[in-house]
Amino acid sequence: MRVVILESPEAVTQFAADEVCTLLKQRSSNKFGAVLGLATGGTPLGLYRELIARNARREISFANVETFNLDEYIGVPPDSAQSYHYYMHENLFKHIDIDISMTHVPVTFGVDLQHSAADFELKIEQSGGIDLQILGIGVDAHIGFNEIGSSLGSRTRVKTLTQRTRNDNARYFGSIDDVPHTALTMGIQTILESQSILLLATGTGKAKAIRDTVEGPITASVPASALQLHPNVTLAIDRDAASGLSNADYFLAAERNRAVASRSS
Ligand code: GLP
Repeated sequence: MRVVILESPEAVTQFAADEVCTLLKQRSSNKFGAVLGLATGGTPLGLYRELIARNARREISFANVETFNLDEYIGVPPDSAQSYHYYMHENLFKHIDIDISMTHVPVTFGVDLQHSAADFELKIEQSGGIDLQILGIGVDAHIGFNEIGSSLGSRTRVKTLTQRTRNDNARYFGSIDDVPHTALTMGIQTILESQSILLLATGTGKAKAIRDTVEGPITASVPASALQLHPNVTLAIDRDAASGLSNADYFLAAERNRAVASRSS
């Protein structure tokens, strides 16, 4: 795993935006555009603001980009302010030059959920697969809505949310009673099939999750630890989120060496 420890949440945002832009520019002349996996939550909001700004300055275009979101609540209509459909529309899609028909957020309202999950997997396959999957992380190290105990071989399916996740996400709802009990989420295996993965984390609240993800054993009790199995994962984290790592000095040295190697190549 590449662990990039940065000074501040703003530096994490800039790093993530640079990674997305590199991919989009590589693919801009290719007839097959980039396929991006997107996340919700508070952490990627800065990244989305930065991508909107770079798109407005015409540094990047989303005209040829297809997107897949990790998850969606069940029982929340897509036009409700709490849905991840709404979140994506408000925080990214409506501000950029993307073709809305090329954006996919799991459909959970007024559909057969098993069929919807299978259709979502099929659409990812038909796109040629996700080039770069952006991830946040829960305080218990869940990714998407793959809660603790999720099979490391799981695919898109319905998951029951833990009380902890419902409590953490209650801030987006009127009261805890309004937070859904279930969601449709990409599976861990689905995520692991992405070509590359970029996980973002900031703040001391994520320090234990990051330590368990990077330095703990691979276990379904720490869903993000499955990322250790992937050959092309980058964690972009601020100093606070890195504060639980025993090997932080090693990761900082590795990044310094990487910078030296890229200057001399
Ligand atoms: C939710 C989402 C996750 C996200 C997590 C952390 O559970 N399903 O994809 O990573 O929240 O969110 P935040 O970035 O707000 O801490």
